[in-house]
Amino acid sequence: MKSNRDDIQLIIPDVDRDALFALGWFERPEGKQTLLSMGNAEHEISTPTIDGEKETIRQFIQLESDNKQITRMISVDDKTIGAVWVELYQNHSVQPPSVHIIIGNPDYRGKGIGASVMKSAIDYTNKVLGYHTIYSRHLVSNQAIVAVNNTLGFENDGVSYTDENGLTWQNVKLELAS
Ligand SMILES: CC(C)(COP(=O)(O)OP(=O)(O)OC[C@H]1O[C@@H](n2cnc3c(N)ncnc32)[C@H](O)[C@@H]1OP(=O)(O)O)[C@@H](O)C(=O)NCCC(=O)NCCS
Repeated sequence: MKSNRDDIQLIIPDVDRDALFALGWFERPEGKQTLLSMGNAEHEISTPTIDGEKETIRQFIQLESDNKQITRMISVDDKTIGAVWVELYQNHSVQPPSVHIIIGNPDYRGKGIGASVMKSAIDYTNKVLGYHTIYSRHLVSNQAIVAVNNTLGFENDGVSYTDENGLTWQNVKLELAS
């Protein structure tokens, strides 16, 4: 997966390099809101720990070796500021392949990075993996990802629905020319 901007690197996850950055995203005052905007329910959010973040990065590496998910960390200014991933299995109600993103460091939001990195993941899924329909989903209340997905050409895939935690989701899909 290649970035289309020189100031953004998409790099293979590394436990020792990335876990401390990830801990920093969630320890910030905005950290809880970041987790909520991703679709975590209040009761699922616990105090972030370095061991928990290491485990998450280890899972990214394991999922890739199981051919289930391809994750790249987003690096800007030599800092790991987020992650983008392509899921190759059905997760929740979302068909594969689906693309997902977090810019964990809020200092780097609103600079076009989210849209650019999602485009890189879409290009990879289309041109390298050979898929012509790409899926995702987002909370209806998450205006930032709604704007990013609209910019990229995603359209609603069915009607919105509410999960067991009372969160309202919209599945989306992007059809690309073959
Ligand atoms: C959602 C997220 C990936 C957006 O990335 P970003 O780098 O901040 O967004 P960009 O700067 O690339 O903006 C792309 C478009 O979205 C719009 N946008 C960005 N943030 C917005 C916001 N909070 N409200 C409304 N529109 C917004 C931009 O104006 C831009 O629109 P344009 O293409 O018409 O100019 C990022 O905010 C994030 O990771 N948030 C926390 C985690 C999350 O919500 N992940 C998605 C879970 S499904």
